[in-house]
Amino acid sequence: MRLSASIAVVALIALNANTAQAWGALGHTLTGQIAQQFLTPTTASKVGQILPAADDGLLSDVASWADKIRFLASFKWATPMHFFNPVGDDPPDHCTAGYVYAGQDNVNAVLNMTATLKEYEAKAPKTNASATVRQQALMFFVHFMGDIHQPLHDSSRLRGGNDAPIKWGKAKNNLHSMWDTLLIEKDVTDRFGGDPDAYLNDTLNLAHTYWTDAPTWTDCDPAQNTATTPWSATTDSVKTLCPIQWAADTNALDCSVVWVDYSPTRDYSTDYFQSVTGPSSSYLLQKQLAKSGVRMAAVLNEIYDPSAKPPLTKRGLARLPSEH
Ligand SMILES: *[C@@H]1O[C@H](CO)[C@@H](O)[C@H](O)[C@H]1NC(C)=O
Ligand SMILES: *[C@@H]1O[C@H](CO)[C@@H](O)[C@H](O)[C@H]1NC(C)=O
Ligand SMILES: *[C@@H]1O[C@H](CO)[C@@H](O)[C@H](O)[C@H]1NC(C)=O
Repeated sequence: MRLSASIAVVALIALNANTAQAWGALGHTLTGQIAQQFLTPTTASKVGQILPAADDGLLSDVASWADKIRFLASFKWATPMHFFNPVGDDPPDHCTAGYVYAGQDNVNAVLNMTATLKEYEAKAPKTNASATVRQQALMFFVHFMGDIHQPLHDSSRLRGGNDAPIKWGKAKNNLHSMWDTLLIEKDVTDRFGGDPDAYLNDTLNLAHTYWTDAPTWTDCDPAQNTATTPWSATTDSVKTLCPIQWAADTNALDCSVVWVDYSPTRDYSTDYFQSVTGPSSSYLLQKQLAKSGVRMAAVLNEIYDPSAKPPLTKRGLARLPSEH
């Protein structure tokens, strides 16, 4: 397994200044790296066949592709797929993420891309054009699975916090961009000397040993996942796929922590940072990244290696990264 992408990741951190639209490149890279650890060999090999050869079968390599192509006219249709604006959401007083299918959004995106992957698994692409559709669906899937776990991608207030200015030490920023990028980069810097590999290892270790609810992350509650979508016939059979529930869980964080005591004059790099990272938060930020990766792997395994068990369901028996 490759965990030696730190040079590339450091380069991506430098690029982050330009990307204020999704978990920053580092966040997306981490979700892809976490997922990779939980793919079965069969799934990993299939993923390697689908992705562009240059990406070496690495989900982390393609995790930010959807942000890079975002402003191309030919992909305009996908722009609303990066976020979900729940109707009636008013954090921190009232969080709601009831879902009704109404076209493009982050929830629909996860369902659509899964359906596309499943359809091409049942009936392999016969032309280069359809192989491209499948490849792009996988790259989109990885990205949108990251976005759905970023609380400000599931919040209607002030354009998901993009229009919520904040202070970050002496700098100015906004709540959304801070969650995409600043919190993660500071967490990696402060606790791991800026080494994203060490942060990745720590996050995997927490998933295996610390978060006691980790075995339930891949459980779907049918009562929460009832919306009818154009892909229901294809996606309902994927037992670990529940983006409606994930969006609701993520949105709940908008009321419990993300928007609590919001103020444009508050310095978010101090006590707020402490309240969402590290031990005093039960490693909340890392947990969102871990959930994204584990769930991504579960869905991909279900599509490409149906006999695989969901990751982490048998705690203690789960393979550690080095055993792959
Ligand atoms: C679903 O995804 C495909 C690409 O795989 C895209 O062309 C289509 O517009 C999407 N449809 C909806 C309704 O999201
Ligand atoms: C499909 O892609 C392959 C490999 O890139 C190429 O050799 C082939 O010419 C392409 N076929 C068509 C019909 O474009
Ligand atoms: C992360 O874990 C991998 C696999 O166990 C190990 O090879 C690597 O040295 C670790 N990296 C860091 C920075 O701790």
